[in-house]
Amino acid sequence: MTKPKVLISDKMDPNAARIFEERGCDVDVITGETPEELKARIGEYDGLAIRSSTKVTPEILEAATNLKVIGRAGIGVDNVDIPKASSHGVVVMNTPFGNSITTAEHAIAMMLTLARQIPEANRRTQAGEWPKKDFMGVEVTGKTLGLIGSGNIGSIVASRAQGLRMKVIAYDPFLTPERAMELGVEKVDLGKLLERADFITLHTPLTDETRNILSRERLEAAKPGVRIVNCARGGLIDEAALKDLLESGHIAGAALDVFAEEPATDNPLFGTKNFICTPHLGASTTEAQVNVALQVAEQMADYLVSGGVTNA
Ligand code: MLT
Repeated sequence: MTKPKVLISDKMDPNAARIFEERGCDVDVITGETPEELKARIGEYDGLAIRSSTKVTPEILEAATNLKVIGRAGIGVDNVDIPKASSHGVVVMNTPFGNSITTAEHAIAMMLTLARQIPEANRRTQAGEWPKKDFMGVEVTGKTLGLIGSGNIGSIVASRAQGLRMKVIAYDPFLTPERAMELGVEKVDLGKLLERADFITLHTPLTDETRNILSRERLEAAKPGVRIVNCARGGLIDEAALKDLLESGHIAGAALDVFAEEPATDNPLFGTKNFICTPHLGASTTEAQVNVALQVAEQMADYLVSGGVTNA
């Protein structure tokens, strides 16, 4: 019997290739190809393992005549045309748990970094200024954290924030009263969250319902002095409005790991007062990358070799 053939087309922990081989698949690791190169090659493969760089467009899927499964080592599948994949009978899997802790830790790190203005203080200290008088931070203890989304990542953020002695409130239409009680968070509507939160962190996918969830109108309705952290997806916040409200001082700080357009190389927010950012590093730890690589390879090999479906 011929072995299923898998292409790993984005940089991924080497454990993924090892698992595919151990579980009876042939595997090629070919990263950094142009869409045309991928299109020319994809017809050979039964499985395609990706992170975020490979864009699985309708053109790629048209050429993928043998493809049975796409596995995303990570959570977001925004780089895959899901309706087209489904119409071709291609199963799309992700690894919803492998990088949750890492991403939650990044959100907490961004929140504390904002509260104490660490990047600017670091920059000016290393420039020889010793600017002690210019930096007055705020404590997070006793403050209210508003979570927009309390699923895998949001619930971990809640537990870490509670460890920091914050009061956690959450807006999440899927949050049941039982789960809210289990998490020790107060379920609120979005209006109340905006009114009460000293810090807001976002933990939702980008969908038609969540796009621009922090619109200009909602940002204006937020508590004056709020600090906002987004390590989820670009497109959840109106970036132009965020810039205006940071400049006016209504929003005291914003930390973004994700942008409406990525890679973000010249975003208008760059250089704005009290704005800090990272280049979509939410999932970038050694531990998370090993986890998602192992999980995606296990799930895909299982599907290709014995038809088992996980996280599709
Ligand atoms: C994810 O969706 O898993 C994260 O955003 C990580 C990433 O895309 O690198």
